[in-house]
Amino acid sequence: MSTLVDGFGRTVSYLRLSVTDRCDFRCVYCMAEEMTFLPRAKLLTLEELATLSQAFVELGVEKIRLTGGEPLVRKGILTLVEKLGELEGLHELAMTTNGSGLVKHAGALRQGGLDRVNISLDSLKPERFKALTRTGNLNHVIDGIRAAREAGFRSIKLNAVLLKGRNDDEILDLVNFARDEEVDISFIEEMSLGAISEHHRGETYLSSDVVRETIEQHYPLLPTTETTLGPSRYYRMPGSSSRIGFISPHSHNFCGTCNRVRVTAEGRLLLCLGNEHSVDLRAIMRRYPGDTQRLKATIVAAMTKKPERHHFTTDGDVQIVRFMNATGG
Ligand code: GTP
Ligand code: 5AD
Ligand code: SF4
Repeated sequence: MSTLVDGFGRTVSYLRLSVTDRCDFRCVYCMAEEMTFLPRAKLLTLEELATLSQAFVELGVEKIRLTGGEPLVRKGILTLVEKLGELEGLHELAMTTNGSGLVKHAGALRQGGLDRVNISLDSLKPERFKALTRTGNLNHVIDGIRAAREAGFRSIKLNAVLLKGRNDDEILDLVNFARDEEVDISFIEEMSLGAISEHHRGETYLSSDVVRETIEQHYPLLPTTETTLGPSRYYRMPGSSSRIGFISPHSHNFCGTCNRVRVTAEGRLLLCLGNEHSVDLRAIMRRYPGDTQRLKATIVAAMTKKPERHHFTTDGDVQIVRFMNATGG
């Protein structure tokens, strides 16, 4: 049982750990075209990432999701996965990836102990996929999804951020693709993190309720209480093993049941995606190397800083200047 409990009585059992702010894509809703990335010295080292993970698991965290940027561009990521795969008490090791590196790495990741992968997929049209990711290649990602299937992960989930007028005409195609590939898919409401001049967030918001109604015109959606301990509300379709999830920070706020914290690529323990309350764990690890008791006490004490909820709005106002890639989502 986790010893991490916040001031609102919520137990934290899920750590989202960003291993890099870098990415080989530049998704329009995530990054500005010109980004500067952290210098190497500011990133947590692989040893620090492992030390932190162990401390969280000893405090009761049962699930770790490796995020980025794109985690597969981090040098040594396979070694880290292997290390974390051996952590006693960790029930689930997962990764969120853009999928571009899965053809190369899926087998080794699975063997190293990665249980689940979530793969971003916002369009099935090659030109549009290129436009949305600025640098991505749809076929590489589709091949990556298939490589992940072959590798035999415990489950695979696709993530589609829906933007009105950009990709909302593909809702059904994405559902059918997930059904054909026998993987789950979550539709995500965009959150306003980071100012991106050429992307007008206020114009692209699409409520999950509209998405659900669109799907229901073709497939009945049966609500479930199934959970991956993340924010997705899952539905099942008759005759398919795929689940449809909705991640709806705006229309169905899920902060009341939040069980997560994140650590940014530079080692900042961030207590909520939509707020800046944080504690610098890198500073503790570098000032007091090897002092895991102090590290754990710092993490426990930080829980009192976890805010009740995010305050994202859908009108395009940027309340959080930090970009998603530095945070890991
Ligand atoms: P599983 O439940 O383990 O499959 O993972 P997940 O869906 O929580 O993680 P994933 O990395 O696939 O993230 C999907 C979307 O959920 C991204 O847009 C994240 O930013 C968002 N998300 C995940 N956790 C939170 C959270 O605590 N708060 C908010 N507002 N969004 C979150
Ligand atoms: N709002 C919602 N989801 C986002 N993601 C990246 N930026 C945003 C945003 N502004 C998603 C990615 C990926 C996951 C880590 O977060 O598409 O699936
Ligand atoms: Fe890279 Fe993911 Fe951000 Fe896209 S959403 S730029 S894939 S970190």
